[in-house]
Amino acid sequence: MALLIVLLATFVGLLAPLVMASTDFVIYSDPPTALLPGQSFQYDLTPQGIPYGPASLSMNHDCDLVLHFHNQKTWATNTTGLGTDCYLTVDSHGEAAVKRDLHYPVWSSGKKSVQGSYAFLVQWNGGLGIYGPTTWSSSNPPSLRDAGDEHPNVTTDYVFYSYSILPIGKILDYKNFKLVLRDDCNLVLEDTATGKIRWQTSTSSPLHDCFVTLDNQGELFVKHNRRDVLWRSGTRSTPFLYILVLRYDGTLGVYGPQIWTTKPFW
Ligand SMILES: *[C@@H]1O[C@H](CO)[C@@H](O)[C@H](O)[C@H]1NC(C)=O
Ligand SMILES: *[C@@H]1O[C@H](CO)[C@@H](O)[C@H](O)[C@H]1NC(C)=O
Repeated sequence: MALLIVLLATFVGLLAPLVMASTDFVIYSDPPTALLPGQSFQYDLTPQGIPYGPASLSMNHDCDLVLHFHNQKTWATNTTGLGTDCYLTVDSHGEAAVKRDLHYPVWSSGKKSVQGSYAFLVQWNGGLGIYGPTTWSSSNPPSLRDAGDEHPNVTTDYVFYSYSILPIGKILDYKNFKLVLRDDCNLVLEDTATGKIRWQTSTSSPLHDCFVTLDNQGELFVKHNRRDVLWRSGTRSTPFLYILVLRYDGTLGVYGPQIWTTKPFW
């Protein structure tokens, strides 16, 4: 009895703070977030204004995790009826799992990698992907303040992928956090609620022709004059696909390489 109470308290304590972030299309291993029983999210998959979506991922009450793309069912864990209160998480080895009751897995992605921080997401092509570990993070401290639930379903672009090239203007936004490449070529992470700068590259160029790009080894760049480097993140890993994520705690993270997907990009 005492054990059950402890477990229940842990369960409620674990999941309560996660409810906010779990309505988004990215799930993290650290700090952990989850897609809770009965939750789903919609994402209109409009990276840089190009419409690909819509997609949705639902953690159904019957324990099946179901992915839809263009309103067609495209993938599922096929775990209907295998448990109650099932939820989806990703662990510190990059393995995603649907678990029943407190922590018994009924489905897992089956690919483990080195220990680190991982991200699970609905990709712009309508597939699921797992990326990590983090190879770089911005140096600003995480924001502990709750960004508020006035926008419970965040469908803005807060992820971008290897090979993307983004010009001056908004790069990513998530709730009150906004990553902008300013006209003077400074890459700035702003908090629009406080007006404060959380992090910046402090770069400048009079040419106004700069862009942000992420390469296939997970290195993030601010470049100008076609290809001259103004700033680089300085960390590189195995060549493949990486993502830059504006996380819910107001920090930036590069995750990769991609270790698992339901739908390859090529
Ligand atoms: C679920 O079932 C469908 C249809 O049989 C199959 O195509 C799909 O691969 C299954 N999903 C998993 C995760 O095995
Ligand atoms: C958020 O998504 C859920 C599940 O798809 C939906 O029921 C709800 O109406 C949405 N809320 C808003 C504010 O769009």
